[in-house]
Amino acid sequence: MNNFFKYVFLSGIFLLHSLEISFASIVSTGDFNKDFFVTWSPSHVNTSTDGRSRSLKLDQESGSAFASNDMFLFGQFDMQSKLVPGHSAGTVLAFYLTSDQPNRDEIDFEFLGNVLDQPYILQTNIYADGFDNREERIHLWFDPTKDFHTYSILWNLHQIVFMVDFVPIRTYRNHADKGVAYPRWQPMSIKMSLWEGSNWATNGGKDKIDWSKGPFIASFANYTIDACIWKGNARFCRANSEANWWNKEELSSLTWMQRRLFKWVRKYHLIYDYCQDYKRFENNLPKECYLSKY
Ligand SMILES: *[C@@H]1O[C@H](CO)[C@@H](O)[C@H](O)[C@H]1NC(C)=O
Ligand SMILES: *[C@@H]1O[C@H](CO)[C@@H](O)[C@H](O)[C@H]1NC(C)=O
Repeated sequence: MNNFFKYVFLSGIFLLHSLEISFASIVSTGDFNKDFFVTWSPSHVNTSTDGRSRSLKLDQESGSAFASNDMFLFGQFDMQSKLVPGHSAGTVLAFYLTSDQPNRDEIDFEFLGNVLDQPYILQTNIYADGFDNREERIHLWFDPTKDFHTYSILWNLHQIVFMVDFVPIRTYRNHADKGVAYPRWQPMSIKMSLWEGSNWATNGGKDKIDWSKGPFIASFANYTIDACIWKGNARFCRANSEANWWNKEELSSLTWMQRRLFKWVRKYHLIYDYCQDYKRFENNLPKECYLSKY
């Protein structure tokens, strides 16, 4: 990174943190045992004695997963994660929000493993009202298997922002007034899972999982859920109140500094964008592709 970006990067992080501190309404305890439950293969899940970190395992016997006890309608969700190291081709680690309905809404981070020494691909996707086909892919600017990094979703009435270490990598704006579906009515739970995606995840499915390189283990720690807990009343979560700080006007679009970072990611790290895939959509891109990103 040159100095300009370093400056922008650091001030961006500073701003984000000061925002978080001034409006915090955190509903998580930081203890995986208290806020989440194991949904798939308890024998493949380890939690530290203080509950502050958790790992998932994938082997020939099973993958594993856990989910939040509560559902949420809008908020910010930060999760630190360290991905499967070494040869991870064919593995998929997912961190996502989902409503689990037939016409589901979903906001996905999917980390696609790779063969040794090839970079991970971070795929993001959005389902709104049951429809997806909104994949984007980036390469990360660091080795995600060496340390914990923070992956965040800001979801409010105005926009969805995917962030990596608080750098916005993708936005999906609420253009519902222009006929674009936007997740805004269905509460979602938080899910984490590690599973085999040999048939598609790596190199279009050509690089399958190599079980002799397993077991495959990924870890999570230090998460924050700062969101509106679903209690059956959408109006409460949609209100622009002090508690629902994520709905504030200043979070209706990226800040000046966030835009700089966003452009940097798009210019140097983006490797696939459904909005540029004219062939796939036969020159008829989804409507949101023609509308502003911030
Ligand atoms: C949990 O700990 C055991 C014993 O140290 C280890 O064999 C296993 O692979 C660990 N599983 C995960 C998911 O980290
Ligand atoms: C946890 O995350 C917060 C902010 O996301 C950070 O300030 C803190 O240093 C992290 N703690 C650890 C142990 O990584």
